Amino acid sequence: MATNRTFTMIKPDAVANGHIGNILAMITNAGFKIVSLKLTQLTTADAQKFYDVHAARPFYGELVEFMSRGPILAAILEKDNAVEDFRTLIGATNPADAAEGTIRKAYATSIGENAVHGSDSDENAAIEGAFHFAGRENF
Ligand code: CMP
Repeated sequence: MATNRTFTMIKPDAVANGHIGNILAMITNAGFKIVSLKLTQLTTADAQKFYDVHAARPFYGELVEFMSRGPILAAILEKDNAVEDFRTLIGATNPADAAEGTIRKAYATSIGENAVHGSDSDENAAIEGAFHFAGRENF
């Protein structure tokens, strides 16, 4: 059964390029409600843990370095069918394949520096949200 929450990060590239406001507008205009929100920075150890599922991939080191190099905006979002609808809104991992109107089409610069993260399952949305937010930071 689809839950109504997903987890996102606006990644260091998009934060550094000044896109927080425009990306949040795209998210809320698409009908998502923000229930948790935080500007923060991952340590190397945080990024290694968050992306542990990709540890065997050739891009893992690059990914950890990128995701810890500057601030990110972390958020939990609420909407019916949140995980699937949010992945539609962000678009394909590689911006070259991302559809018009998606966040990555507008703001991603490469397959690695792709502006936003969206959870890929309800289970991971819950795990990733709990990684960043305490219960009292959920509204
Ligand atoms: P995301 O899908 O949010 O989480 C995994 C991340 O790994 C992905 O975004 C990209 O930032 C990164 N990634 C995926 N594939 C590659 C790749 N081929 N080269 C570099 N980074 C990648």
